[in-house]
Amino acid sequence: MTPPAHTEPAGPDGIVIRPMTPRDADQVLVIYQLGLDTGHASFETTAPTWPAFDTTKLPHHRYVATRTGAGPHAPEQVLGWIAATAVSDRCVYAGVVEHSVYIHPGARGRGVGAALLNAFVASTEAAGIWTIQSGIFPENTASLRLHHAAGFRTIGTRERIGRHHGRWRNVVLIERRSPTVL
Ligand SMILES: CC(C)(COP(=O)(O)OP(=O)(O)OC[C@H]1O[C@@H](n2cnc3c(N)ncnc32)[C@H](O)[C@@H]1OP(=O)(O)O)[C@@H](O)C(=O)NCCC(=O)NCCS
Repeated sequence: MTPPAHTEPAGPDGIVIRPMTPRDADQVLVIYQLGLDTGHASFETTAPTWPAFDTTKLPHHRYVATRTGAGPHAPEQVLGWIAATAVSDRCVYAGVVEHSVYIHPGARGRGVGAALLNAFVASTEAAGIWTIQSGIFPENTASLRLHHAAGFRTIGTRERIGRHHGRWRNVVLIERRSPTVL
């Protein structure tokens, strides 16, 4: 699969969607931890180190949503990120990835997640990836709504599939099969 030609996808007003770089590491991992702290984002409870994140996430299709602060020297603020892992090393699944999307609590509910997901879908489709999948806790209604609006379908619910802080949790499996990668 060839990496996609990059274009700067549009985000909500004043927000830029661009490829993630190592300079974003600290803000990406803080946002990751804040998402995990909701208790509804993942079975994980602690964000990985940057080397672990960098090793497991596919190098292409990593994006951040950013906003430049007021004033000429104001630092750029990362509002959210999206990235993916390969689901298998078997050739038949070469075009299947599993993604994660995390938005800073102060930026949720303003279309940032949708903008990142749109950019990610375009990027993966341009590279020939045909299926994006994820598992979502049923309590995470924001994530379910975000993904259904972006063309994901619910495959089904895995019941009491794992324990999170000692409590059995269900996981809703979702996927988006690209209509353009044939
Ligand atoms: C889930 C998450 C990524 C959504 O991102 P977001 O930027 O807040 O979502 P958006 O503003 O783009 O909204 C996308 C859709 O979700 C809906 N939505 C957003 N927040 C919602 C909420 N709290 N409850 C219900 N629906 C919600 C929006 O109305 C919108 O739906 P619509 O297009 O039908 O109007 C974000 O809340 C988050 O980072 N949560 C913590 C980490 C996490 O759970 N990640 C997902 C792991 S599976």
